[in-house]
Amino acid sequence: MTTTDAAPRGASRTPEAARALFADLTGRDPVGTWSAPGRVNLIGEHTDYNDGFVLPFAIEQRTVVALGLRSDARIRVASTLDAAPVEVAVSDLDGLFPTVGAHPAVPEWAAYPLGVAWALLQASGATDVTGVDLAIASDVPVGAGLSSSAAIEGATASALNDTWDLGLDRVALAQVGRRAENEAVGAPTGIMDQMASMLGRPDAAIFLDCRTLDANVIDLGFAAAGLELLVIDTGVKHAHSTGGYGERRASCERGAEIMGVTALRDLSVDDLTRAATVMDDITFRRVRHVVTENQRVLDTVHTLRDAGPLQIGALLDASHVSMRDDFEISVPELDSAVEAALSAGAIGARMTGGGFGGAAIALVDHEKATAVTDAVNAAFAAAGFTAPHIFTVSASAGAHRDA
Ligand code: GLA
Repeated sequence: MTTTDAAPRGASRTPEAARALFADLTGRDPVGTWSAPGRVNLIGEHTDYNDGFVLPFAIEQRTVVALGLRSDARIRVASTLDAAPVEVAVSDLDGLFPTVGAHPAVPEWAAYPLGVAWALLQASGATDVTGVDLAIASDVPVGAGLSSSAAIEGATASALNDTWDLGLDRVALAQVGRRAENEAVGAPTGIMDQMASMLGRPDAAIFLDCRTLDANVIDLGFAAAGLELLVIDTGVKHAHSTGGYGERRASCERGAEIMGVTALRDLSVDDLTRAATVMDDITFRRVRHVVTENQRVLDTVHTLRDAGPLQIGALLDASHVSMRDDFEISVPELDSAVEAALSAGAIGARMTGGGFGGAAIALVDHEKATAVTDAVNAAFAAAGFTAPHIFTVSASAGAHRDA
């Protein structure tokens, strides 16, 4: 029998790992540490870059950045993910970015913090900033659809915004993170993950209008209702800088153009009858996912407010079906996780994040968490899939200075 972990192993050791890496790198202690969380998206998938609605929450797994000042104007980044630190002159950042796709001279992990430094200077107009050493450690699983990338962006942006005294607010820092991801890493993602990582609150989700960036805190009330949210990390890796993510985005833009609207946000479920008659079947199904998913986000927010979390299961399930059949971004491991969780009594379940791998979530009664975990493990074993990593998450605080 398998039980659920409270969090991936090593969760509480991340700040120490960042400080230890910093000491190895410089022989000194850092002047401070900052951290930012990964996120789970409760509902609203592939709606953010369509100017639509999302309902993510920050999780307790975080990326920690330990920072120290240098006497020159250079920036050096080191990560527990890679043995070799990367160092550039601050004045050279402009020559490195923006880049189309990954920059050949910068390893991908380093494009996140260096891209954030570049985007921060662009956003603030600052030029004369002090050099810094950054040591980065994280317990957000990479490639699991939990936005390890937004966590590194948020922690780095917070650390540099404070250290360089730039005065950018949280929304501006989220936009800086997104710009780094789009223009330094080359992943054409939306703003959801960075906003969740910057604005997260304990026990609450962030209801975000991705057109206006208006954000509202929505109480989840999972613990009070005796519920747990399980993350089922399938171990199937994905990257949004390549392939399917960009193709889906292009289909959505084509659909909006055919319908004569700025973004799919401007269509309602009633417009789908006409949409079906003016575009090819694949584009129509991509459009139908986004339009119905936007409605499901609104319905989930109303349901949470009026009836509580026990009533949102059907909306989560419908979201998964729409991603599986209309948007076609699920994989057999995610479908298997969702089916097994629901058969074992989960209240609702869906894949979360960009898709093509990564994680599913299942909302379960606390009493049933072990049975659901066992059922998913058994389904994976029967299908010959690699064993998943299953753990509970709870909604947590956004980016902040730790020490
Ligand atoms: C990834 C992207 C987000 C969003 C989701 C899908 O996580 O980073 O911007 O598009 O996929 O909802």
